[in-house]
Amino acid sequence: MLTREENEMLTRVGRGTPAGELLRRYWQPVAAAGELTDEKPIKAVKILGEELVVYKDKNGRYGLVGEHCPHRKASLAFGRVDEQGIRCPYHGWKYDHTGKCLEQPAEPESGGFKDKIKHIAYPVEKLGGLLFGYLGPEPKPLLPRWDVLAWEHGKRWIEVQEVLRCNWLQPMENSVDPSHLYWLHGDTAHLAPTMDHYEEEHEFTPFEHGIMKRRVTPGRKPGDPPIVDQHPLLFPNTLRHVFREKLFSGRLRHNLQIRVPVDDAHTQVFVVYFSPGESDHSPADGDAPWEYFPIRDEKGQYRLDHVLVQDAMAWETQGAITDRTQEHLGVGDEGIIIFRKLLHEQIDKVRKGGEPLGVIRDPQMNRIIEFDVINERIGLGGSQRRVA
Ligand code: FES
Ligand SMILES: [Fe+2]
Repeated sequence: MLTREENEMLTRVGRGTPAGELLRRYWQPVAAAGELTDEKPIKAVKILGEELVVYKDKNGRYGLVGEHCPHRKASLAFGRVDEQGIRCPYHGWKYDHTGKCLEQPAEPESGGFKDKIKHIAYPVEKLGGLLFGYLGPEPKPLLPRWDVLAWEHGKRWIEVQEVLRCNWLQPMENSVDPSHLYWLHGDTAHLAPTMDHYEEEHEFTPFEHGIMKRRVTPGRKPGDPPIVDQHPLLFPNTLRHVFREKLFSGRLRHNLQIRVPVDDAHTQVFVVYFSPGESDHSPADGDAPWEYFPIRDEKGQYRLDHVLVQDAMAWETQGAITDRTQEHLGVGDEGIIIFRKLLHEQIDKVRKGGEPLGVIRDPQMNRIIEFDVINERIGLGGSQRRVA
């Protein structure tokens, strides 16, 4: 259980709030690169409570600037791009990707008025088919080259999910909550609970990129070796996961589920998949195919036959910002307690001018960051590392 103040501290994402300042130390995806096309080169995005537009100019350069024009606040989402930048649809003021005002058609050239205008602008980088923005203080850190984003020999694709109607911390707490598996997903994943499953052990080990979550489930029959499954929460707002195409068979689908705070009560999830060895070659610096993933059907009902929608249902029904003054945590919620403690510590570190967990500045370390993901149930890794 948290106090109201603690709950606010961990959930609020605006500029100047404790968690908002922590989250601004990390690159956050704003769009799939493929969402920006010649016909539609501008997308309005809201991230960490800030209304922005991401665009691709006619030279192929990306920009992430404030949505509202500094002249009289019209939306640049309805603007147009050219070789230098983006132009406001109202009176034609034009900006480049650094926020510099390049033109003010109705103003005299001589006055120097445009040089006094500095529009909000943030750096953008592309990796693994996603466009990432950085809203924090300079100098900006490196964009982490996590395996799923940077691997090349295989097929990569992206799901841009329907915006969740809840705060970012709810999906993240779910990532250190292994005990929901059988109940929420058991029918779909054919993992009907039995008493045996309650003997499983969970370990949560903080490491340099977040928290490694490990589950050891007893074998199905007495004498069978235990089954190990481990994958990390990448601090602060990503889950690195893996499954197979068809339950326990088919190709591996490594994935990253990045939960980007839109504002205090909404979250945009981007899922990047990578299937190793498939004939496609997906360059890390290229675009990737993407699709929109609705949580609800045309009637507005949750599509509960999808595992990711089962999770979304649980998170949204906890409330827009779940009231943690009213919760009752048990032994099975150990991971959540560890994650909240880590968040507290890292918020504190940022407040004191330090660098929080998982921020990368060493290019050597960032060539590619691979994770020790094990899932023995689907035959991935781990046989020598089995605990007795
Ligand atoms: S409001 Fe954008 S140019 Fe006037
Ligand atoms: Fe889940």
